[in-house]
Amino acid sequence: TDALHDELLGLALEAARRAGELLRDGRPADLGVAATKTSPIDVVTEMDIASEKLITGFIGEARPDDGFLGEEGASTDGTSGIRWVIDPIDGTVNYLYGLPSWSVSIAAEQDGEAVVGVVAAPMRGETYQAVLGRGAFNNGERIRHRPAPPLSQALLGTGFGYLAERRAAQAEVVRTLLPQVRDIRRGGSAAIDLCDVACGRLDAYYERGLNPWDLAAGALIAREAGALTGGRPGEVASHELTLAASPALFAELQPLLDEVGAWHD
Ligand code: IPD
Repeated sequence: TDALHDELLGLALEAARRAGELLRDGRPADLGVAATKTSPIDVVTEMDIASEKLITGFIGEARPDDGFLGEEGASTDGTSGIRWVIDPIDGTVNYLYGLPSWSVSIAAEQDGEAVVGVVAAPMRGETYQAVLGRGAFNNGERIRHRPAPPLSQALLGTGFGYLAERRAAQAEVVRTLLPQVRDIRRGGSAAIDLCDVACGRLDAYYERGLNPWDLAAGALIAREAGALTGGRPGEVASHELTLAASPALFAELQPLLDEVGAWHD
């Protein structure tokens, strides 16, 4: 498995590097201006599709029997037991506006378990990586989560879904939590938020409604950096709730989020 995981990691790193370059260099300079005019979403969708095609094409050539699950529609089971879970641009709205926090997220699952995760954040000049059981790294440097502060001094990250009804429920959760913590950030890329927990730039991150491609790579990176990830009490990180935090804070936040209904719509 070590050799297999090395191969998967190498492919994920190279695919993420190429996609990141395509997105950074290929972003139309007037995209932000276009955001106030015509149909900028179409331009971003085109970049999303091009990025996903590049990634599935590059990896599929090396490993034709693997499966794929991608935000832009890739969905095949494959026959090798390996499935790639891909977000070709995580942080689409940041990308649209020219804010730097967007990323390319690529995970490889072996028999359903994430074994390799890569999150490339080209505008930060950072690439995060993890292999199951081998720790987490940012640009080759080992990273660790931050030791948990008391909740009152914790810096949390979160995110909001796209549907108005869900956003209203998420605002209620923020209303309850905000007076109890140091502050709350909304970074705009779940994959980067999870990597920020991994390297100690956030104490915790939670969000309701993530898709598998938003969280697969980042959650492995957070766990390999010593953080815990999960969902509602007793459940794994999922669409219902994704929470990542250093262990003591995780133990405090998981029941609290459950209590305030952070997994409700
Ligand atoms: C979104 C980002 C954002 C999160 C949203 C996601 P996308 O992914 O990760 O931070 O709050 O829930 O949908 O759409 O930019 O790939």
